[in-house]
Amino acid sequence: MSVRFGIIGTGRITRRLVADLQSTDNVSVSAIASRTDERARWYADQYGIANAVTGYQELIDRDDVDAVYISLPPSLHKEWSIAAANASKHILCEKPLALTTDEATQIDQAAKANQVRWLDATAWLHHGRTQAIASAIADGRLGKVGHISAAVSFFQPFQSGDHRLDASLGGGCLLDLAWYAGGLIRFAAKGLPTKVFASAIDDSEIGSGVPQRVTAMLWFDDNVTATLSCGYDTATRKWFEIAGSAASVVCDDFTRPWADKPARCWIHAASGDVQQLAYEGNQEQEMILRLIGDSPLDSLQCQAIDTHRILDALAESIRLGEPVSV
Ligand SMILES: NC(=O)c1ccc[n+]([C@@H]2O[C@H](COP(=O)([O-])OP(=O)(O)OC[C@H]3O[C@@H](n4cnc5c(N)ncnc54)[C@H](OP(=O)(O)O)[C@@H]3O)[C@@H](O)[C@H]2O)c1
Repeated sequence: MSVRFGIIGTGRITRRLVADLQSTDNVSVSAIASRTDERARWYADQYGIANAVTGYQELIDRDDVDAVYISLPPSLHKEWSIAAANASKHILCEKPLALTTDEATQIDQAAKANQVRWLDATAWLHHGRTQAIASAIADGRLGKVGHISAAVSFFQPFQSGDHRLDASLGGGCLLDLAWYAGGLIRFAAKGLPTKVFASAIDDSEIGSGVPQRVTAMLWFDDNVTATLSCGYDTATRKWFEIAGSAASVVCDDFTRPWADKPARCWIHAASGDVQQLAYEGNQEQEMILRLIGDSPLDSLQCQAIDTHRILDALAESIRLGEPVSV
């Protein structure tokens, strides 16, 4: 039987995920909710969704909704994820999952208490090449992993009123972009750092008290280190390097491959040989299928909560201006 999704929010990313939901096997989109009647109707017509709903709780309470896709500013993720869980609806929540580890854990607990499944919409984790990279790390092709670096950015300008510039809505590149870079580092290091040191630049000309650029170092057990760079003041970067004693993995489009180009990722050997990693698939559809499937989601949920632990530590280091233990 088809899993019927309800969409909460009508932001920029909504259009893309609605198309992915509508094109995934055994999934349909039955309703979309906005705070305003006009917006709900306009988006329902645009996306070909049967029901336009005014109010998020009204959507959650519908009998024709089995799961929700939450596409709201980060400050609203916890409230509406927990509301969905309490109504026994499965949850696909946009990244970052919440504002803090504590909030993320509350979502997890509400979902478990109500026996619903949840994922954050961090689609790169579901791409076929992510599994290929995990295999390259695990099977020793890289030798011993020593250093990981990740960089995610895009250049302003923002539209006026963009939630990314509003601290009260969870704005700033730490939650928005270090979510990806910190998550990649956690994935490659297979765990949490022991210590981090981060600094942030807040350009008051464009900002409103939220980080515009974040630079960080992370230290892990076994002499593994990592560096992270993200910001709204450099052109689009979505890349990483996982450097091992025998070879390195290099990827320059990991958050989402460019629409008009095949996904890219290479193993660079010490000899100078370069091998393209083989992979295929649509990462968003894989993510949706995993959410509605019946395989355990624990490791993905742990990845999300650990990513919040890293971001919490980076925020604390920025606040104190010194390294902090994790
Ligand atoms: N996975 C990805 O690749 C990706 C890419 C971009 C963004 N995102 C994430 O997706 C989420 C939404 O991002 P977006 O860029 O689509 O956001 P957006 O364009 O700002 O839209 C957010 C929506 O949230 C609703 N909303 C409710 N209360 C709001 C408030 N106080 N201020 C502003 N909007 C409010 C609005 O819908 P109504 O007015 O209709 O209720 C609005 O359209 C964020 O968490 C972001 O990090 C993910």
